[in-house]
Amino acid sequence: MLVISSPVEIQQFSLNARNEGKTVGLVPTMGYLHEGHLSLIRKAREENDIVIISIFVNPTQFGPNEDLDKYPRDLQRDKALAEEVGVDVIFHPAKEDMYLKNASTWVEETMLSQRLCGLSRPGHFKGVTTVVLKLFNIVQPHNSYFGWKDAQQALIIKRMVRDLNVPVTVIICSIVREPDGLAMSSRNTHLSPEERKRALALWQALQAAKKKIDGGERDSGLLKKEMRKIIELKASKIDYISIADVNTLEEVEEIKDEILIALAVFIGSTRLIDNIRVRIQ
Ligand code: PAJ
Repeated sequence: MLVISSPVEIQQFSLNARNEGKTVGLVPTMGYLHEGHLSLIRKAREENDIVIISIFVNPTQFGPNEDLDKYPRDLQRDKALAEEVGVDVIFHPAKEDMYLKNASTWVEETMLSQRLCGLSRPGHFKGVTTVVLKLFNIVQPHNSYFGWKDAQQALIIKRMVRDLNVPVTVIICSIVREPDGLAMSSRNTHLSPEERKRALALWQALQAAKKKIDGGERDSGLLKKEMRKIIELKASKIDYISIADVNTLEEVEEIKDEILIALAVFIGSTRLIDNIRVRIQ
């Protein structure tokens, strides 16, 4: 397994592989790998000749009061895990090589980004789309892998690829959870044992909503109220509880077709997100 930090070098590596007729798969990450990331890498391993992962804690997607400095990092540990699941190359660029001093070009999706996390994290998705398009241009993959854990991010990247004719296939993989249901996240490491228990409220609220829908409930307001009741007891702050159309992310009043139930909640000072998708037959 190689670790490459130079954008020029990895681009050359990838172009050479493509010229030899090999397929290249990219899994973008911010590191501190867990089973969620590894599931994307395994899928990429199955579907491509060459698997590249990027590890880059992207400063432009963090707001001024967010956890950029606190974000967990451990390259040695990540290297061992990546090697185990058959990664060919880790692309680990320096901040200065990704963002030149006078960089003045951004990529911005303007519809889906305005909703859910976009409301409380202004500029976040602009940072994400910019870095992801940069990673696509640098790494030149055929295929790229993202998790449904960050459903809004996945939808925005798909929209960007469609709108800008980016020649990369985007594959979305399902959420990997801990045995008790908590969605895996690098940020879970910030939780104290007591907070870890409280964090289960996100999954419990999603499950409760699903159960009500299965039982025939179609009023999104009532469902949100139920979810709020479950979470309120455990959360330090609720950022949002959303029930939205899965394609437009517009809030719905009546549950029909296919919806995304998503929430963002602070447990202590850690912001956690989770979601489920529900299709009404
Ligand atoms: P990061 O949070 O490291 O996540 C990298 C990828 O792993 C994302 O596509 C995310 O959705 C996926 N992922 C995280 N937890 C998961 C889980 N429990 N199950 C399935 N997939 C999971 O998302 C980012 O980094 C960044 O925004 C990035 C796209 C790398 C751009 O900087």
